[in-house]
Amino acid sequence: MSLTHYDAINWNQVSDMIDKATWEKLTEQFWLDTRIPVSNDLDDWRQLDDDHKWVVGHVFGGLTLLDTLQSEEGLKALKENVQTQHETAVLNNIQFMESVHAKSYSTIFSTLNTPDEIDEIFEWSDSQEFLQNKAIKIGNLYLDANTDPLKKKVANVFLETFLFYSGFYTPLYYLGHNQLNNVAEIIKLILRDESVHGTYIGYKFQVGMRQLSEKQQQDMKDWLYNFLYDLYDNEEKYTHMLYDQVGWTEEVLTFIRYNANKALMNLGQDPLFPDTSSDVNPIVMNGISTTTSNHDFFSQVGNGYRLGEVEAMNDDDYHVARPNSDKDLNDKE
Ligand SMILES: [Fe+2]
Ligand SMILES: [Fe+2]
Repeated sequence: MSLTHYDAINWNQVSDMIDKATWEKLTEQFWLDTRIPVSNDLDDWRQLDDDHKWVVGHVFGGLTLLDTLQSEEGLKALKENVQTQHETAVLNNIQFMESVHAKSYSTIFSTLNTPDEIDEIFEWSDSQEFLQNKAIKIGNLYLDANTDPLKKKVANVFLETFLFYSGFYTPLYYLGHNQLNNVAEIIKLILRDESVHGTYIGYKFQVGMRQLSEKQQQDMKDWLYNFLYDLYDNEEKYTHMLYDQVGWTEEVLTFIRYNANKALMNLGQDPLFPDTSSDVNPIVMNGISTTTSNHDFFSQVGNGYRLGEVEAMNDDDYHVARPNSDKDLNDKE
């Protein structure tokens, strides 16, 4: 294929307002791991026994692998089939944030873990059977050029809204107990991003579904529920392997079934499991719902992170640097 022309992206003519709204939401909630003072959690960390420390470290190892997959393959796969240029711009934003997510676990490791422990966690992530299973099941859909583009969206949403939550459970549990609050803050910022990502990609899936025949829609539904069962089957094993030693397995499974239903909801589908938010450990739901917390006055970073107030430029804004014109400087608000 050779180009005969190329179109400039025009943000003054947006055909799908969801693209624009999502761009605005995601850019407003931009954050960086380096601004969260994780070292403030060291006292809490030292109080944990070895089993619980192991769970925390390896849960984050698992999450690192999944965010790596998203940043390297997941969004790239989606960008191959966009409806609008603005969708590409949104997916670029998401892809970069996935790299921030993947990096932020290393920020946590470097604060809480020794170099040897970090090496062991990465060796584990790169070889653990059930963790690798999920990366491979999802990654193969991304990498196969013949995969239906809608199935790539399903894989993305299942990863973002379902498969991450066996890992998110741990920091939310500690947050609910008022422990490891800064670690949890990073996770809540990630969670807030994933929530927008899952909703947006799920919406694009639903737009695509509406263009299919009834028969094609039914085939897609059959496929996605089967895929979800398959992923859940593996997720059960993963959860036992991680959590049996601390006795949390059953409540983590409730939590991931609840999130599997949310993934289905993002895709416009009916829930599969009977679990609702009232079945989830209230301490964990409490962890999710804690409101704005800013860590320090200067960075204003927290899940209530806000950009400075923005106002439109006017002619006066250009007068500030003019020599011998103190009036302009002093008269400004
Ligand atoms: Fe992510
Ligand atoms: Fe994401």
